[in-house]
Amino acid sequence: MHQIAIIGAGGHARECLETARAMGLEVVCLFDDDRMLWDTEVLGAPVRTGGLDAVSDLDRNTALVIGVGDNARRRDIAGRFEGRSFATLVHPFAWVSPSAELAEGAVVHPGAVVQAEARIGRHAILNTSASASHGVVIGDFAHIAVGARLAGIVTVGQGALVGAGVAARPGARIGDWATVGAGAAVIGDVADGVTAYGEGRARPR
Ligand SMILES: CC(C)(COP(=O)(O)OP(=O)(O)OC[C@H]1O[C@@H](n2cnc3c(N)ncnc32)[C@H](O)[C@@H]1OP(=O)(O)O)[C@@H](O)C(=O)NCCC(=O)NCCS
Repeated sequence: MHQIAIIGAGGHARECLETARAMGLEVVCLFDDDRMLWDTEVLGAPVRTGGLDAVSDLDRNTALVIGVGDNARRRDIAGRFEGRSFATLVHPFAWVSPSAELAEGAVVHPGAVVQAEARIGRHAILNTSASASHGVVIGDFAHIAVGARLAGIVTVGQGALVGAGVAARPGARIGDWATVGAGAAVIGDVADGVTAYGEGRARPR
């Protein structure tokens, strides 16, 4: 059985752990800088003492998964551990088109759908029941939250957070490090770094 280790021991780490196990992977341990968590267990897997510094003691054949929901923090951790191998996770109850591309470290949770010729960036998250339709491009470190729906050829920039239940119309562009609030409709573009939300149409704030 292939082995992985997870960086982070919070909510998203738990989801990554269960997605990994559903794929038949063994989660050997988790790493977290919160000392309160050292030597505890998360869903039966040990949290190592020593925090992220202890990753250097891990067998290099064990792939890592960054189980941290914060996009900027995921980017920083990926930079810190450049050169290590990262697993790409796809839950068996997700569907990924054979013509789609998932980059290293991307995570696709249960119920998610990745359609024809979509491209999902490094360490991006497609969360529970999120969907990316044909030709969608999702940048590195972006997070498509639970139940968000991206219609055909939507582009989502690096590090963007597309909130729970968002609906983005075909061809919409969500910029780098932008945030779209939960439940909003994206019917135009959201510029880089902008937070847009509201009932109905997402408007910049
Ligand atoms: C949009 C968002 C970023 C705003 O966060 P914030 O700046 O902390 O905003 P606040 O919670 O202080 O709310 C400010 C106002 O906007 C309203 N508001 C907040 N989020 C909203 C949303 N998604 N839709 C409509 N109104 C919203 C609040 O009710 C509040 O209104 P008020 O001033 O009349 O009381 C955040 O609410 C959000 O939706 N984040 C996405 C979360 C998510 O889906 N995570 C992924 C989980 S898998």
